[in-house]
This record gives sequence, structure tokens and C-alpha cells, in this order.
Amino acid sequence: MTPDLLKQGAQRVAQRLEKVSTDTESGGRDASYGRVHKLGEVDVSHGRILYLEDVSVSFDGFKAINRLSLDIAPGELRCIIGPNGAGKTTMMDIITGKTRPDEGQVFFGSTIDLLRHNEPEIAQLGIGRKFQKPTVFEQLSVFENLELALKTPKGVKSSMFFKLDSVQSDRLAEVLHTIHLADSVLTQAGNLSHGQKQWLEIGMLLMQDPKLLLLDEPVAGMTDHETERTAELFLSLKGKHSLMVVEHDMGFIKTISDIVTVLCDGSVLAQGTLDQVQADERVIEVYLGR
Ligand SMILES: Nc1ncnc2c1ncn2[C@@H]1O[C@H](COP(=O)(O)OP(=O)(O)OP(=O)(O)O)[C@@H](O)[C@H]1O
Ligand SMILES: [Mg+2]
Repeated sequence: MTPDLLKQGAQRVAQRLEKVSTDTESGGRDASYGRVHKLGEVDVSHGRILYLEDVSVSFDGFKAINRLSLDIAPGELRCIIGPNGAGKTTMMDIITGKTRPDEGQVFFGSTIDLLRHNEPEIAQLGIGRKFQKPTVFEQLSVFENLELALKTPKGVKSSMFFKLDSVQSDRLAEVLHTIHLADSVLTQAGNLSHGQKQWLEIGMLLMQDPKLLLLDEPVAGMTDHETERTAELFLSLKGKHSLMVVEHDMGFIKTISDIVTVLCDGSVLAQGTLDQVQADERVIEVYLGR
């Protein structure tokens, strides 16, 4: 696809977005959540996209996750904070099927039991995960990285003959715009800044249109400016996607958060607005007062 076609795609997307925002009272953001449940969709009629109850996992007798219960509403941007070793990454490992819990329930919507699915299936169901280290293909351009994110792993031959259809081209143009890389579409990923690589990887996840995004320490190593732009990016994703963001950067959390969950010793220590949890003596003792 040429930059010209990309531009046309971006225009089509802009027109469509404009239409959505005038079609619904919520500006289109909540449009998908009130719908009647169809096969293959996540049933969020109970107001939860993710639900964990009494989840525990031990490693060699050490309880990394200890009767953890937590739920997230559709379209919510939930922040998770807590000291090193609290179990934040392990919780994401459990949600994405990388680690099996010893006990408990993990549901995606009200009908999909995630413990019955493996890692690739969970990704297919619409849960995208971003690890701390960017894992973009350094030799390929921004465009090629995003294009690759749509390809199914059926071998080199099918990848070589893969062509974007017009819906996918539109999606690519929209994602490029969202991740602030529209001007760098032909840049080799290896030449991007650390922050831009992180955005590209988020863009690769967005190409799959995930319903839930799990982001582990996304602004670690970013400059202040990149961190600010990432906050804008996450705020723009909120509503269209559900997000779970683990971060130690309190300035960043302050900018993006509605509800903050504090994890400690594998379970929820406190939950509320950032102001509320920052005023909680137990949170100050184990985390913020360090
Ligand atoms: N596969 C594993 N085998 C053994 N122990 C593990 C494993 N994964 C995690 N742990 C232990 O579980 C505990 C929780 O680790 P986890 O990485 O989830 O913490 P975290 O909250 O993400 O910390 P950080 O803020 O440092 O990233 C730690 O004590 C860790 O050493
Ligand atoms: Mg971690």
C-alpha cells in the first residue's frame, strides 16, 4: 500500500469516526456495550469484562497470588500499583494463560472461562498483552510491523502473498494515527526512539482490535514527553477498549487513573481513586512511604 492509499484510508476512517460520534449519545464510545450478545462476542451484560475470584497460585510453596478477587468494567482503564513482588505480572500471566492458578475463577465477560483456554486462544478471544520490553521487528518498517500483526502464523508462503483488504487498510491508517506514528510509516522500527517502539508495539496489538489490553509498566524508560503522549494515547483508548495498566510512575497514574487497585502479597490491599489509596495508611506503609 502506498502513502497515497494510506491517506485515503485515513480520510475514510475520519469520516466514519465523525459519523459514529454524531450517531450515539455517548459519542460512540459505549456503542458496543449495550448490544445484544452474539455468538463469539464477550457477554458484558453483567457489567464486567474481566472477573477474578479467589485466585491463588504458589511457586515452590510461596503464594505469589493469594485469594485475589478483582473485576473490571467494559471500557474501563484500571490502574494497578503495588510493591515489587506484589504479584502484578503474575496476575497478568494468569489472565493470559501463561500461568495456571491452583485455585479460583477467571472469566472474560460472564461466559468465557479463561482457565479452559490456552495462551494463543486467549489472545484470539481478544485479550492483548504488552510486556515491558518492546518486541517490534527492528529490521522492518513501521508499516510492515503493523501489517505483520494481522497475519496468521501459517508460514512464510502465506505471509508473502498476504494483502490487506480495505477494512484492514483503514484499520492500519487509524492505528497509525492513534499511536502518533503517521509521519514515520516508512521508518525502520530499529530507528525509532524507545517510546515510539513501545507505541508501535501497542499499535500491533490494536491491529487485532483487542477488547481487553494488559499493559505491564508501559512508560518505564520513556522520556517525560513520551510519558505524557502515552497518557494521552491510553485516555483515547479508554471506552473503546478495556485496559489494565500496571505502573510504578505515580505521575502517569495520576494523569490516567479513575480507579486504582493496590496489590500487595498477591491480593488486593486497597482500591479507590488515587487520592483515596494514597491516603490509606496500609498503602503508605507497604508502598508509597518507601
Ligand atoms: N515463574 C515463577 N517461579 C517462581 N516464582 C515466581 C514466578 N513468577 C513470579 N514469581 C514470584 O512471585 C512473586 C510475584 O512476582 P511478580 O513478578 O508477579 O511481581 P510484580 O508485582 O510484577 O513485581 P514488579 O513490580 O517488581 O514487577 C515474586 O516473589 C516472584 O519472585
Ligand atoms: Mg512485574
